[in-house]
Amino acid sequence: KLTTGFIGWRGMVGSVLMQRMQEEGDFQLVEPVFFTTSQVGQAGPDFGQGSAPLKDAYNLDDLQAMQVIITCQGGDYTNEVYPKLRAQGWQGYWIDAASALRMAEDSLIILDPVNGDLIQQGLQKGVKTFVGGNCTVSLMLMGLGGLFKQGWVEWLSSMTYQAASGAGAQNMRELLNQMGVLRDSVADQLATPSSAILDIDRQVAASMRAESFPTDHFGAPLAGSLIPYIDKQLDNGQSKEEWKGSVETNKILGLQAQPIPVDGLCVRIGAMRCHSQAFTIKLRQDVPMDEIQAAIAEHNAWVQVVDNTREASIAGLSPAKVTGTLNIPVGRLRKMHMGPEYLSAFSVGDQLLWGAAEPLRRMLRILAA
Ligand code: HSE
Repeated sequence: KLTTGFIGWRGMVGSVLMQRMQEEGDFQLVEPVFFTTSQVGQAGPDFGQGSAPLKDAYNLDDLQAMQVIITCQGGDYTNEVYPKLRAQGWQGYWIDAASALRMAEDSLIILDPVNGDLIQQGLQKGVKTFVGGNCTVSLMLMGLGGLFKQGWVEWLSSMTYQAASGAGAQNMRELLNQMGVLRDSVADQLATPSSAILDIDRQVAASMRAESFPTDHFGAPLAGSLIPYIDKQLDNGQSKEEWKGSVETNKILGLQAQPIPVDGLCVRIGAMRCHSQAFTIKLRQDVPMDEIQAAIAEHNAWVQVVDNTREASIAGLSPAKVTGTLNIPVGRLRKMHMGPEYLSAFSVGDQLLWGAAEPLRRMLRILAA
């Protein structure tokens, strides 16, 4: 059994990882050791093997003893600890949720239903560093992997509708607080059916523009509004989130020598933990719709093609429907009026599951096999 150190297991992504590992019986495959950045010596969690005192996540000797380290602690931790650990000769497998090492030459981005072959080749070549992808990228490839596998995609544009969870746990709370403030600001008028909707709207707008509106985490109103920019600003006009869409997609697919252009705008909306994306896909040829649907549906066990009808779309293609599940519905599939090589699609996926925790636990399983 691989001695596996867990770091950042108590945070939001870490908690989802722990939950999924319990559901799938993964803890039986490893010898878990739990680390902490703040509570050294306190009792660790018991996932069926008994509880042991938490070890110091900055103690390089304790980390050195691990065959595998899985961290959901974040990029600052990775940047602080990983180089030192490798510098002192640690040869173990590092599995990371943070983006810090994603584009490093000697790392692989893990999404095994899409690039399981590259992961196996990497292991044979001695790759030891495996990093989960950006959530929108992983969710896009879980949905549209079949089109890439067929080699049909000439370029792709993704316009995102990203959930609060991608910004963090505190942001999810802030979204709900914003919703509550807006609702409370017009509670009396809402209780009176005859009150004028434009008065209600004026009050809501005043509330979300008020100094007192809770925006500490997002820096802007999200409830009743949206935020048209995610992550840092780059010099080329893209946001960092938009840049990741292109470089990570091509790294996951092993196409860095001849990359497929991927670009679009990333936008935050008031969903809790499901990212949605609207795609414009330029195909290399006029592929018939039934072949497109089959390629998408057959790619992996989690993707589902949703009929492009109003009823099926509303029922099956929403964050409300998908949240908390591993399902990746893909719908609104149709040829666009620009021509038969232009395909539209819309997909939804839980960004804490396939977008974050799931590829990590599956990588651990690959190592334990
Ligand atoms: N950067 C993503 C977001 C989250 O802000 O939604 C994780 O990749």
